[in-house]
Amino acid sequence: MEAKSLCTEKVIQIHGGIPLKGATRIQGSKNASLPVLAASILIPDTCLFMNCPKITDVYQMMDIVSALGGKTSFRDSGLEIDARDISGYALPNENVKAMRSGICFLGALLSRKGEVRLALPGGCVIGDRPIDIHIHSLEKMGVVFQRTEDELYAYAPKGLLGTTLRLRLPSVGATENLIMAAVKAQGETIIYGAAKEPEIKTLCDFLNACGARIEGVGQDTLHIQGVATLHGCEYQLPADRIVAGTYATAVAITGGEAFLEEAPIKDMEAFLVLLGKMGVKYECFPDGLYIVGSRTLQTPDYLKTDVYPGFPTDLQSILLPALSTATGDCIVEETLFDNRFGVTEELMKMCGKYVKISDRILLVIGKRQLKGATIKAGDLRGGAALVVAGLAAQETTSVTGVNYIERGYENICRDLNNLGARIVLKEECLG
Ligand code: EPU
Repeated sequence: MEAKSLCTEKVIQIHGGIPLKGATRIQGSKNASLPVLAASILIPDTCLFMNCPKITDVYQMMDIVSALGGKTSFRDSGLEIDARDISGYALPNENVKAMRSGICFLGALLSRKGEVRLALPGGCVIGDRPIDIHIHSLEKMGVVFQRTEDELYAYAPKGLLGTTLRLRLPSVGATENLIMAAVKAQGETIIYGAAKEPEIKTLCDFLNACGARIEGVGQDTLHIQGVATLHGCEYQLPADRIVAGTYATAVAITGGEAFLEEAPIKDMEAFLVLLGKMGVKYECFPDGLYIVGSRTLQTPDYLKTDVYPGFPTDLQSILLPALSTATGDCIVEETLFDNRFGVTEELMKMCGKYVKISDRILLVIGKRQLKGATIKAGDLRGGAALVVAGLAAQETTSVTGVNYIERGYENICRDLNNLGARIVLKEECLG
């Protein structure tokens, strides 16, 4: 038994070339769930999160809440978190190192316990991810930071103090942390230059449902009046716009036709406009998105990622295989992260061709026919891109590094099987 477990690895095996057809339901949003779960520890009460995705990042968040003294359990109705007995302030290293979102607990624990200790989130495969905006803004709210080489300890000697903050850039994570710090701070906090991603709106809506006073939700200036206490609530998490974009791209690239139930269309405009430019037809319904792909995808003039409502960086990787098979060459500009073209090395094994002009500019050579290969995911969205490429490729593709994909996709094989894909998750001995 021991020998078997040492040499087995999860592999997603895909027989490509099948046009996807049918319907699949879009899971709850990872990037909406993670900050909301961190925020639940602000509330000395019970919260029920409906539509929370069963992904490994969520399980990591549950482990952290449990380590801090909370109780968590998945029920039929959703994820229940009871944060009445939060007693700890130190995050377990193994969880913080396994994902980036441990950083969400910075604001939440400072607010609930007045102090926090966590391992420094390290570099990341999609580029350097500094936390200077989180730190400088919290310092303005009265927080004192002590850093060692690999650890951060922070405390608020006079409690958290409302103030005016101007963010150097609209960081999603920093905006989330500052909202969590501000909801129970003394007085008013104004955040200028806040991120406007839909996940920020979810966090604000959830906290307002618990008794917070946040105004300007969905805009780049937030006014937050601190309140003495928050109460629990039941909250429906939105569907995942990046998962919906992944499956829409899979349908498009295979020339299929499918309905993506509950796709959050209103948050997907920039992506859908781009798909339209590539000759993909779509129709929006109150309960989802109907996509009709094309065997001949058109190349868009240019693809540039941007903060919301611009084209999401998380879907940039996923579109790379589709751009490879399209009618011409395309320049892709990544404006958020400095190393988000890593997946091209694996896509080249499938006969994709890419010229990296700089860390942020990539030339995608079009008119390529992708071929099956054995490839390895190195990050979450890159991993999903490899699966999409495998669906379009001739012959069989095997994707390893499945643990990255499982961080954000509840069950990518189930969802794509619903659309008629021939895709299975296997345990293989690679030793
Ligand atoms: N930045 C700084 N200083 C800071 C904070 C950010 O320089 O203090 C820089 C980062 O280095 C990066 C840029 O600002 O270059 C954007 O970072 P941001 O803080 O906005 O991103 P994040 O909160 O770390 C979230 C998502 C990412 C998504 C980005 C951008 C979660 C858990 N993560 O990351 O999602 O790509 O926003 O939309 O919400 C993913 O789901 O695969 C993923 C990486």
